[in-house]
Amino acid sequence: CGIVGYLGRRPALPILLEGLRRLEYRGYDSAGVALARDGRLLVRKAAVRVAELTRLTANLAGSTTGIAHTRWATHGPATATNAHPHTDTGRRIAVVHNGIIENATELRATLSASGVRLVSDTDSEVLAHLIAAAAARGGTLTEAVRTALADVEGTYGLLVLDAERPDVLVAARHGSPLVLGLGDREMFVASDLAALVRHTQQVIYLEDGELATIRADGYETRGADRPPTVVEDVPGDYELGGHPDFMAKEIAEQPEAAQRVLRGRLDERLGTARLDGLRLTARELRGIRRVKFLGCGSAYYAGQVGAGLVEELARVPADAEPAAEFRYRNPVVDPDCLYIAVSQSGETADTLATVEELQRKGGRVAGAVNVVGSAIARECDSGVFLHAGPEISVASTKAFTNMTLAFALLALTLGRVRDLSLGEGRRIARALAELPERIGQVLAEEDRIASLAGRFADAQHVFYLGRVRGWPVAREGAQKLKEISYVHAEAYQSSELKHGPLALVDAAMPSVVLIPDDELAVKNLGTIEQIRARGGPVVAVTTTGLAVPGAEEVVRVPTAGPELDPVLLTIPLQLLAYHTARKLGRDIDKPRNLAKSVTVE
Ligand code: G6P
Repeated sequence: CGIVGYLGRRPALPILLEGLRRLEYRGYDSAGVALARDGRLLVRKAAVRVAELTRLTANLAGSTTGIAHTRWATHGPATATNAHPHTDTGRRIAVVHNGIIENATELRATLSASGVRLVSDTDSEVLAHLIAAAAARGGTLTEAVRTALADVEGTYGLLVLDAERPDVLVAARHGSPLVLGLGDREMFVASDLAALVRHTQQVIYLEDGELATIRADGYETRGADRPPTVVEDVPGDYELGGHPDFMAKEIAEQPEAAQRVLRGRLDERLGTARLDGLRLTARELRGIRRVKFLGCGSAYYAGQVGAGLVEELARVPADAEPAAEFRYRNPVVDPDCLYIAVSQSGETADTLATVEELQRKGGRVAGAVNVVGSAIARECDSGVFLHAGPEISVASTKAFTNMTLAFALLALTLGRVRDLSLGEGRRIARALAELPERIGQVLAEEDRIASLAGRFADAQHVFYLGRVRGWPVAREGAQKLKEISYVHAEAYQSSELKHGPLALVDAAMPSVVLIPDDELAVKNLGTIEQIRARGGPVVAVTTTGLAVPGAEEVVRVPTAGPELDPVLLTIPLQLLAYHTARKLGRDIDKPRNLAKSVTVE
């Protein structure tokens, strides 16, 4: 979900709506805004997109203080009543909230027993009532918020507006990010930099547990004063720039994005890489006995590509696991293992909690994060930034690619302090240096790949098959198709096909078979034969020059060498998913039921 707040000298509404538009990728089930005017709250909210909210608020004006929200539903369906801001019965206090109130059921019961009528199904509404009750007893808004939060268990990024005191906003953070933007006699608040950077580059990240009292001329917290962080506003980062949607833009940006993650980190002469952000000496690197990648969704699949690279190049045992599984199964934390928390946003609740759990148990954890200043980036004191630039489309593309490239750099670094030879190291380093150009060559195949989309748009189910290097690629490919086209896709190891799933194959079920340019290519051709023998249509996606007689369609992309082929092979699968979704008329950047960054469990 996204939060925006404004307090200052200009009309708040356009600033809030513009902020919401930029945060909409974080949740888009419903949206709402609350303004303070003449001692009253003006609230408009509905189960609509921000564009529609803009129409609904056309007659609201004249306030210089307001808060706004775009929601991804967790408690209660997407309806106008469940949309934020929530208010108390007397409509004095309005709140917008990200996170989950864990004792909401008990709080609702207590409030109901005391005569309060709750109108929504959400956990967030209780906050408005609790704060209003505390405010009615006197004192400042800050005191009222502090008193109310003392009874609350759970996580929150919370912003509060009091109709009677429009010169102040109160923000509180516990587990869900909030950032303040410092302007000239105006202040901005948001859950994400995207909503602020146009207005100011001076920001303050609220610390966990911090509560801020915000006025037009500044803010106060109980914490130590700290200088604002200066953030960059790269023109065009949050604009489509002629592309039909952000996913198309972000796919196209991959050659440059890939260059950024590699820049300054490769040493072709010594056939190695350097990741200074890991803060590990050669001796410490040599002491690492295991590597484990932890993340959610595409970040988890990228970790699986990473684990393959680390084992292959460094011969260090490595694996990947979904962050939430890891944190809840009481894992054995190994002091000789390097844990890598993988996250584009740096805000995913399960990944963040995993980092905290590892730190509690003395695990060594480094971040692989795209968003500088994000919670995971700040929680891990070492790591590697992905430098993909802002990724807006819910389906990850350039961040995924940069994750896998960062892991290739890590694998090379670990390999070269072990037994990877100079010659092999140089070969990998050179292949990495050339990868951005190779990605460009894959993108040049877009029309050919788009021509296949019809096949998938008509299908009910699709298999994605790969073995060893191709397996994590198949998983990410299936994920992409599912999330943006809603066509059911399932990834299998090619070798497992005959042990069950082959029963599903028929003329109506296409399979995408991945064939990296490696020693298993011939086995993959065999997989295609097995499918063809049952009448299943096959699209082969390959970096080999081999003839693929069984496939109806073959997509050929250049090879980067067997180790790095997984990086290249994901790109045609992004295009395949993208064009299938377009053909089906899907809302590509904002697929149903999903959100870009899941800051709740
Ligand atoms: C959400 C998104 C996925 C993403 C995952 C992890 O589920 O819809 O696309 O892969 O979160 O996000 P992160 O920001 O931690 O990489």
